[in-house]
Amino acid sequence: MNMNLRVDGKIRTLSINGDFQRVYRPSIIAQTFIEQLEKCVAPGLRVLDMGCGTGVLGIAAAYLGADVLCVDVNPYCIECTLANATTNGLRLRTLLSNGFKAMENEHFDIIVSNCPLLPVHLSSHQNTPVDNGKLGLGLFHEVASHGSNYLSSNGRLILWCCGLIGFERAERTLYKHWSYIETVRTFEYAIDRIGNNMYSDDEIATFARHGDIHRRGLRWFSRGKLYDVRQL
Ligand SMILES: C[S@@+](CC[C@H](N)C(=O)[O-])C[C@H]1O[C@@H](n2cnc3c(N)ncnc32)[C@H](O)[C@@H]1O
Repeated sequence: MNMNLRVDGKIRTLSINGDFQRVYRPSIIAQTFIEQLEKCVAPGLRVLDMGCGTGVLGIAAAYLGADVLCVDVNPYCIECTLANATTNGLRLRTLLSNGFKAMENEHFDIIVSNCPLLPVHLSSHQNTPVDNGKLGLGLFHEVASHGSNYLSSNGRLILWCCGLIGFERAERTLYKHWSYIETVRTFEYAIDRIGNNMYSDDEIATFARHGDIHRRGLRWFSRGKLYDVRQL
C-alpha cells in the first residue's frame, strides 16, 4: 500500500507492505502522524518510533532525513520494518522490545508512538500482541510515563488517543507527567476502517461503554486526538 509524505512542497509516495494478517495495516491515523512529522522532523534529528508495526512512521521520519530507531514487541514487525525500509531505499535501526524494556540509555529528539488503544483483549489482534492491560493502554502509559527519560532536553513526544477508550483517562496520565500538552489535530474516523478490524456487536458495546463513539447510518465512528507533548 502507499502512504503520502510531503517533502519540500512535493508529495512523495512511500511503499509500505507486509502480511496484514500479522502486522497492523497503516491507517488514516498513521497518515495523520505523518502530517505532523512533516512539520517537526529535520535532517539529523534522532527519532524513536515506538510500536513501529510496518515501520511506516519511522520510514517517513527517515525519508525526512532523521536518524531512526524502530521498536516493536512483535518479531514480524521488525522483519517487516527492515524490508519496507529497504524497499524505500532507506536505512534505519530496529529493536525487538516490550516498550522500553530492552532499550539502552539512548536519547531522542522526537518519540512518535501510534500506540494500541483497545478496550478489549484480542490476543490475536496485531495491535496487542502482548497483554497491554485491561483497557489496552499499557504501551500508552509506558510511553506517557517514561518517555521523557529517553528524550533530549528539548525533545517532544507525539502520540494519540481515541474515543474508543475516552480521552479523560489518557489525558490525566499526560498531565501527570508532562508540563506542555498541545492537541495538534482532532480527527474522526470510521472504526471499521482501522487496521484489519471488523468488530462484533459486543465489542462495539464495550467501546460505547468506555468511550466516545457515535453511529451514522450503518457505521460507527470515533474521534482521535494527536498530541505534541513536551517538558518546558
Ligand atoms: C496501532 S499499531 C501501529 C503500527 C504503526 N506504528 C502504524 O502507525 O501503523 C501498534 C503497534 O504497537 C506494537 N506494540 C503493542 N504493544 C507493544 C509493546 N508493549 N511494546 C512494543 N510494541 C508494542 C504492536 O505490535 C503494533 O505493531
